Amino acid sequence: MTTTEESATAAATGASATERFRADKTAVADTPPERVSMLAREVLAAIHATIRANQVSYAEYDALKAWLIQVGADGEWPLFLDVFLENVVEEVASADREGSKGTIEGPFYAPGAPELPAEATLPMRPDEPGTPLVFHGQVRSADGTPLAGARVDIWHCDALGYYAQFAPGLPEWNLRGVITADDQGRFRIHTIQPAPYQIPTDGATGALIRAADWHAWRPAHLHLKVSADGHQLVTTQLYFPGDPHNEDDIASAVKPELMLDPKPSGDGVDVEYDFVLAPS
Ligand code: DHB
Ligand code: FE
Repeated sequence: MTTTEESATAAATGASATERFRADKTAVADTPPERVSMLAREVLAAIHATIRANQVSYAEYDALKAWLIQVGADGEWPLFLDVFLENVVEEVASADREGSKGTIEGPFYAPGAPELPAEATLPMRPDEPGTPLVFHGQVRSADGTPLAGARVDIWHCDALGYYAQFAPGLPEWNLRGVITADDQGRFRIHTIQPAPYQIPTDGATGALIRAADWHAWRPAHLHLKVSADGHQLVTTQLYFPGDPHNEDDIASAVKPELMLDPKPSGDGVDVEYDFVLAPS
């Protein structure tokens, strides 16, 4: 099959993700020097210990330098960090939060997706390939109160594993939207089932994965940011049972609470999932 999406490269995807990060996230400049010093010292000490324990050679040191330079040149830092570090940052950040489980945001969120009513079809191409998926549920507060007007910001890749705005050839807001729930906090989203996703393999992250004989797969997933007035936003992902990569997600972002229970329905699948938000 030939599609424009096949021309998605690590460099193009990485450059888009880097640009997106710079536009949306402001680096915190007020970390006290003592904290910077402690964190930097501990990270460096861990690397020093690895070098000593494994008798790292100059050739290996130069391979590391070359690789680090290439990650930057490919714009792949957002991808690399979100695959290999974000899951632990998320674990620490959400440890004390009640309500629905969260997981990593990943590098492909784009704010400002089209605003849609409580029942809506995500923007998609007229011939969008993939199994039709109806995703519905209710957003409630921790005490069970339905959250009228809650917002469900959803984004996911297409049936070939490509994200709009990060792979060429896709409409800007393909498979992205912000749904406002009804007065009972209910939403019903018509979309297609996303494919398992392989992180770009032709760049520096792919080179590491190949050199280490790992695999590059994430299981199929829906990304969500669920929010409501007076409540803490949850950034999460939902997964499909039976995906072989649920057990060995390269990004370590799967949690048992995030598994969907899809039911066959017509020519597609129907999934129900409710969200519980902690008061802020
Ligand atoms: C990456 C891609 C994803 O779709 C995701 O959810 C997490 C990480 C990545 O390529 O880094
Ligand atoms: Fe993703």
